[in-house]
Amino acid sequence: MTAKEPTPIAAAARDMAAVLARTEHDPTRTPADVVAALAPLVAPHEALFDRAMPRPTTMERSRLLYFDPDLLFLVSEIDPSFTGPAHNHWAWNILLICAGRMHFRWYRRLDEQSEIGRARLEIVDERILHAGDVGIVAPPPHDVHSFEVLDAHTWLITVAPFPEPAVREFYDVTMGTYVNRTFDEARAVLA
Ligand SMILES: [Fe+2]
Repeated sequence: MTAKEPTPIAAAARDMAAVLARTEHDPTRTPADVVAALAPLVAPHEALFDRAMPRPTTMERSRLLYFDPDLLFLVSEIDPSFTGPAHNHWAWNILLICAGRMHFRWYRRLDEQSEIGRARLEIVDERILHAGDVGIVAPPPHDVHSFEVLDAHTWLITVAPFPEPAVREFYDVTMGTYVNRTFDEARAVLA
């Protein structure tokens, strides 16, 4: 008898866990390995969405695809009306585009986080992501990112540590400032 093949999600979770172990939980170190681990999820994203769990969210069509004590996968369908101003997650995170396009920016913090409400940011990576591409954000404090959705019916899979943080910092990159917002307060900004 042969061993049962893991599902695409179980295989991706297993491969992502291996990437995280190899990189000391900084997936920006090996982007090609991240792409390889997550690539099998790109094609079946809509079928995965149909079987995923609903979640309270700022997005209309976003579901919980997978979680374990360390790892979270979300699958979401978003439109250009949904924008992500510069914010953090207190964690590394990965955006895998499955369909459509996204303008993605990842920022590094240049200041020493010694002044509440102030943050000096520099762009590390800025790209238009297409299906199969990943935008990767390093662990804190260099976990600031922003995005604009360029096409209707853009699909993405978000990979991050579990659980999701309730409060995030939202940055004004030009002014060099930030404010804390809860998930509910962020709803107005993210809508
Ligand atoms: Fe984010």
